[in-house]
Formats: sequence, structure tokens, C-alpha cells
Amino acid sequence: MEKFNPCLDLLQQDPYPVYDEYRRLDPVHLGMPPMPQHDESWYLFRYADVEAVLRSRVFINDRQKASHTLPCTPALLEHEPLWRVLSKWILLSDPPAHTRIRSSVNRAFTRNATGVLAPLIQEMVDRLLDGLVVRGEMDLVSDLARPLPLAVIARLLGIRIENPEQFRVWSRSVADALDMGTGQEAYNRAMHLMTEIVAQLRIEFRDKRQQPEDDLVSSLLASMDDDEGIDEDELISLCTLLMFAGQETTIDAIGNSVLALLQHPDQLQMLRDDPGLLPGAVEELLRYNSPLQMSVIRIAAEDVEIGGRQLRKGDSVTAVLGAANRDPDRFADPDRLDITRSIGARDVVFSQGIHRCLGVHLARLELQIVLGTLLRRIKSLQLKSDQLQWRQNIVFRGLTSLPVSFEAS
Ligand code: HEM
Repeated sequence: MEKFNPCLDLLQQDPYPVYDEYRRLDPVHLGMPPMPQHDESWYLFRYADVEAVLRSRVFINDRQKASHTLPCTPALLEHEPLWRVLSKWILLSDPPAHTRIRSSVNRAFTRNATGVLAPLIQEMVDRLLDGLVVRGEMDLVSDLARPLPLAVIARLLGIRIENPEQFRVWSRSVADALDMGTGQEAYNRAMHLMTEIVAQLRIEFRDKRQQPEDDLVSSLLASMDDDEGIDEDELISLCTLLMFAGQETTIDAIGNSVLALLQHPDQLQMLRDDPGLLPGAVEELLRYNSPLQMSVIRIAAEDVEIGGRQLRKGDSVTAVLGAANRDPDRFADPDRLDITRSIGARDVVFSQGIHRCLGVHLARLELQIVLGTLLRRIKSLQLKSDQLQWRQNIVFRGLTSLPVSFEAS
């Protein structure tokens, strides 16, 4: 069969039939390199293999990996501002740095800690909807999904966002730069915007040192002198990662979930009739059309066997989360949206192992509040067009816009 090409246009419209074919015929598959200038890479399409790799300590985020995911050589990366920030992202780090930095923020992201944000998120969603319900139509992505996650994460961090659009453009440009097959132009743009955001964060930190408040950044700044504390560059990186990861995925999750419900009116009606189904529905909607289709590339630290194939030390591996979430060996009738399905704790929407999403509780909370509020405040929600525009991105799956019409309840 043809080598899997992660940059295939077809994947943007509907990746699932392509994944199915590889899962059936060659589930641990040596496909085209994510960057044209690099070596071939392994792609995993089965749930069991994806879970095994994500949980294994043999697969690491080796520094050399930069050369697999970015259009630069490791030597060049040493001196350039985008990589200086990205290289300290916990998402791209290994223990012990990963363990130290992640444990400094874990507490702020537990279910209880993020649950405290519920009234605030509800207020934000209500305020956004107040301005929209009278119109009888909106672009659900730009009017609702896009403004919310940045406002939530900025509040949690305690960072002032004077120009939200600038942060959204920046975040999207980082997503483009990290996408497979990305070009030098996208990379340069992200590098330029990252420099601006980092400068703003440094000013913010200076002000917060003088006037600490009750927020995550103030408490991390206060603990900077502790032995196990994080330094200023690490805190800069952490803030950029949280603002990036919190935005890109959640915007897509909201758009994909509303779209799936509109395309399955029986499921939408079931949810309207019984809002108690909401938590399970959110899990199923995330499985059905996952916002993050592929994990960050991992590198094999030693020779290892996966799903019957022998991988060599240094090989790069991509876990195709979107394919694992539609694996019939894990989910019965996986292409069917069933909001009453019991998914259980072992999903790979949020990854597994040490890099399992830090924002999992926050993301679920945001989705439950958005969907719950839409159902309560809006009736006869309808798609205004069946021409869907998907993001030009392989890793993130989401709509660029979702025009809908409705009546206020
Ligand atoms: C529906 C929304 C979300 C999805 C589907 C999602 C998915 C993921 C996945 C799959 C990973 C691991 C990637 C890998 O293993 O290579 C991850 C990591 C991460 N996510 Fe999320 N995420 C979401 C929302 C959020 C939010 C709201 C935040 C924070 C505000 C967040 C922060 C992070 C961080 C910091 C990591 C890195 C964790 C580590 O490396 O230890 N995410 N996310």
C-alpha cells in the first residue's frame, strides 16, 4: 500500500476512512516523514499500540526531535527565539525537567481547583451569548468558541490580555509552525510573534513581582527561589504552552462538538431531554471527532517491538489519536455518535502517560458549560450551510467557522 502521507489534503476533509484502511492493512506503518527533509516515520493507527507507546518510558521527547517536527536543524535551533521557548515546554520535555515543572502546576489543574472556575466560565459564556441571542444567528466558532478559552486561561494565570486578537493570531501561528510539513514562512511568522508575546509576559512578571495577586503566575513567581521551583524562562514557556494548548484544542472541541450534534439531531434531542447525559456526551463528542488528531512525535530510546513491528533506537513515532479513537477493537461501532456510550477512563483524546493533558478537567468543564448553556438558552439551532471549512492543519482538527441560526428559548 502507499506510504501514509500526513500532509494529504484528503485528511482535512475526512481523515477517518483513510485511518481505517491503514488500521486494517498495516496498523504499525512506516510512512512519509512529517517534514520533507527528514527520515520516514512510524504511524500507529490501533488503540492498543497508541496507548502502549504513550504510556511507555522507552518513547521519549528527545531534543533531537526538534529536527523531526520543525523545518530547522538542531544546530540552528539552539540560537533562535521560538525554539528557546518551545524547548522548555513540558509537552516537549522529558523527566526530570518535565516532572519538576509539571508538579509545580499540577495542583492548579486538579478537578477541584478548576471546578472553582465554573461560575466564572458560566458568566463568560452567558455574557458572550447575551450579545448574540438577539441576532438569531452567529458564527459559533468566531463568536463563541474563540473568545472563551483564552479569557479562561488568562484569568487562571492572572495575565492581562489587552489585545486578545493578537494572542489568538500568535497561538494559531504556533500551531501552524508545529504542524507536519510546515514551511519556513509559517515558522518565521511564529518566531516573530513569539518574541512579542515573550516581551509582554516579562513586563507582566515584573509588575506582578511588585504587586502579587491571588493567581497562578504570582504564586509561581513567589516560589522561584525554592530548590525545586522553576526559573523565569521556564515560567515564560509554561505560560505560552498553557495559552497555546488551552486555546487551540478547546476552540476546536467546541466547534466539532456542536457540529456533531447538529449532524445527529436524535442525539441533540436526547441531550435536550436529559441534560444529565452531558458529562458522558462530552467524552463521546471528543472521541468522535478529536481536536488533537496526532500526538507529538516521540523517539524510540532503544530498539523496541510495537504491535509486531521491530523499531530501532532513534526511530520517530506518531500516535494517531484520531484513528485510535475510532478503533473497532476498542469502541463498538466506532463511527456512530452515541452520547450514551460508556467510554471509561482509558481514552486517548487527552493522551496517556506522563504527558496526559494537564487541562483535561478544565477542557471538560468548559465544554459542559458551553453545550449546557447553548441547549438551555437557544432552541432550533441549525447549520446555515453544509459547506464546512476545516483548518489547514493536520494535527489539530477543527472548523474555521460554523455559521448557525437559532431562536432564543
Ligand atoms: C478538548 C480540549 C483538549 C484536548 C483534546 C487536549 C489534548 C491534549 C493531548 C492529546 C495532550 C498530550 C499530547 C501528547 O501526548 O503528545 C495534551 C497535553 C497538554 N495539554 Fe491539553 N488538551 C485540551 C485542552 C487543554 C487545556 C484547556 C489546557 C490548559 C489550559 C491544556 C494544557 C495541556 C498541557 C500543558 C499539556 C502538556 C502536558 C505535559 O506534557 O505534561 N490542554 N493535551
